[in-house]
Amino acid sequence: MKENIKTKIVKVDPENIDYEIIKEASKIINRGGIVVFPTETVYGIGADALNDEAVAKIFEAKGRPQDNPLIVHIAEYDDLYDLVSEVPENAKKLAQNYWPGPLTMILYKKDVLSDKISAGLDTAGIRLPSNKIARAIIKESKKPIAAPSANTSGKPSPTEVTHVIEDLMGKVDMIIDGGSTHIGLESTVVDVTLDVPMILRPGGITLEDIINVVGNCEYDPAIIKSNEKIIPKSPGQKYRHYHPKAEVILYKGNMEDIVQKIIEDYERLETEGKKVGIMSTVQTDKLYYNKKTICVGDRTKLLTISSNLFRDLRLFDKQGVDTILAESVNDQGLGKAIMNRLSKASSKTILV
Ligand code: TXA
Ligand code: MG
Repeated sequence: MKENIKTKIVKVDPENIDYEIIKEASKIINRGGIVVFPTETVYGIGADALNDEAVAKIFEAKGRPQDNPLIVHIAEYDDLYDLVSEVPENAKKLAQNYWPGPLTMILYKKDVLSDKISAGLDTAGIRLPSNKIARAIIKESKKPIAAPSANTSGKPSPTEVTHVIEDLMGKVDMIIDGGSTHIGLESTVVDVTLDVPMILRPGGITLEDIINVVGNCEYDPAIIKSNEKIIPKSPGQKYRHYHPKAEVILYKGNMEDIVQKIIEDYERLETEGKKVGIMSTVQTDKLYYNKKTICVGDRTKLLTISSNLFRDLRLFDKQGVDTILAESVNDQGLGKAIMNRLSKASSKTILV
């Protein structure tokens, strides 16, 4: 692995964009380099999607398995037609309602998108992000930009520039600091080549949001029964993912029982010499009195949890915690995406 690239870190205010920096970033993209930029979901590590050598650098920098396809980002709806061979009615409606935004649509690709991007599939994931910095770079470079999350493969996705620096310093040409990302979890991936759209990865646009627009939608069965041996349609979902260094144990059931069991396990693990942390979804310090706790957000406002989840998993690592005991949330709406990431981050689920 090469680690000798000089990485330039620059700050950009999304509300007052410095277009000199955007031009510089676009030049890097156009000469086959790598730029990390914020999106409304997580930070992305971007390269010219039409340049195989540049795309190969993304796989190398992340240590990403070659059979995991990349999402291609565009700046305008019409750009879609350059990349895919067919735009079904459902895709048009979803784009009208949720683009720009945290929705990636799987569509049959044109040959301009190489096997390197699609990992040999005949489809590609396309997304039009709403973050102004991301859109400005795509627009200025006049290229579709391949951009997976800007983390080392397997680790929690980056929601702040410090996370990107931890994982990718010396491996990319430029990192743009645009502050904390808004949603904090990656986009919803939906296969719209099927008559009934299928969610392959839950995210900011929910099943209910999609049904509201196109009438029907379902989850890939592999998302619902993640413990069984069903092969997910989205290659990325089969990998070990979102893992902090600490072991994560996820507790499911009603809240009162969860709290009681977490307290019990905390005390037992502590006597075994472990450094334990609790990831709580209730904003009170009385619940786990005198125990090491991070309140990830408010379980009645799921966006507060999604936006902090990956940051707090990394925070526990910084504090040297060995075992994270995590409360679950109701898996409706955005809760489905939160529970999907927590289930993947955890080595064990305890039903109370
Ligand atoms: O929010 C996001 O989507 C972020 C930001 C940077 O845009 N990007 C992101 O990319 O999360 P990545 O590579 O970490 O996740 C892409 C997911 C993977 O699970 C991949 O397997 C799936 O999308 N995917 C990409 N192309 C696909 C295809 N043609 N068919 C099925 N799944 C696909
Ligand atoms: Mg990722």
